[in-house]
Amino acid sequence: RTGPLVDTFGRVATDLRVSVTDRCNLRCTYCMPAEGLPWMAKPEMLDDDEMVRLIRLFVGLGVNQVRFTGGEPLLRRSLVDVVRRVGELPNRPRMALTTNGIGLDRLARPLADAGLDRINVSLDTASPQRFLELTRRDRFADVERGLKAAVDAGLAPVKVNAVAMPGEDPADLLAWCLDRGYELRFIEQMPLDAQHSWDRSHLMSRHDLLAALGARFRLSPAGDRGSAPAERFFVDGGPETVGVIASVTAPFCGACDRVRLTADGQVRNCLFARKENDLRGPMRDGATDDELVDLIRLNMWGKATGHGIGTPNFEQPDRPMSAIGG
Ligand code: GTP
Ligand code: 5AD
Ligand code: SF4
Repeated sequence: RTGPLVDTFGRVATDLRVSVTDRCNLRCTYCMPAEGLPWMAKPEMLDDDEMVRLIRLFVGLGVNQVRFTGGEPLLRRSLVDVVRRVGELPNRPRMALTTNGIGLDRLARPLADAGLDRINVSLDTASPQRFLELTRRDRFADVERGLKAAVDAGLAPVKVNAVAMPGEDPADLLAWCLDRGYELRFIEQMPLDAQHSWDRSHLMSRHDLLAALGARFRLSPAGDRGSAPAERFFVDGGPETVGVIASVTAPFCGACDRVRLTADGQVRNCLFARKENDLRGPMRDGATDDELVDLIRLNMWGKATGHGIGTPNFEQPDRPMSAIGG
């Protein structure tokens, strides 16, 4: 029962992504419908003790980084407490957060004080009007304030994640981020939307991105990325960089070091996994730590070589992005 969390292809999971809620206060058109989704009921969700216990078990299996995601993770009222408690675990993991930035003006400082190390903020456009169209909420200014607060709280370098949008000039957002000192990464949109409306022919690809950015900036490769999803480029000679996360056209699954825990206590070995293992049920039925660890290992044994987007057998998972956490 000891030893790292390996899969049958020899990959080792060291990065745990914990979705702390499936709720969100934005309604990005590429993610969910205007009316939202049927959210998880409170009793289905892990409480703080359960969540911290499971994180402790993952850390015991060699996880050295925990990233809190959602939905929108800042909507979980107890997030600061959870961060503090994870920071007190033996072999304290590094802790990061992926958020849409709303509420961060208030929470960046408490999160940093609780031990959060890093923050990534999702923002797809530098135009308040486009933001409203894309997210169906008029909250661009909130995100701007949140980004500033993250820097002020010492969480720099703050990264910005943007899903690449056809019809949007990515160079505009890059210019905006460069002015403010945020490290921007563009993401190829994946088939994980609740509406199942993703279509490869509408994809803004790595190739398209580099062409559009190259029209205004000179890009040069910024070195080895290890297991990081983002391929980085120096902008106009650096030191600033821009990243591209080409999950669809240049998958990085061979170097994947991730495992995921959903807000309702299911372990998932991949964003696109078709099978989850339930930890919540056994835990509430009195499972021991060893029994839970066995379930986690069992799940990892089922991890596929890759997501297979574009292959004939590909099937989008039932659980949407908002309930997995990016
Ligand atoms: P850093 O450690 O700061 O580089 O963060 P990260 O890129 O690992 O995490 P983040 O939450 O910022 O993820 C950015 C985006 O990368 C997500 O929204 C996903 O679109 C994509 N992504 C993250 N993890 C995976 C993964 O395991 N597989 C794939 N295909 N895409 C992923
Ligand atoms: N493909 C890629 N990224 C996505 N995100 C949401 N849906 C998708 C998708 N289908 C992004 C969000 C946020 C992060 C958590 O995941 O915009 O940046
Ligand atoms: Fe890992 Fe799955 Fe993402 Fe590939 S798609 S990088 S295997 S989580």
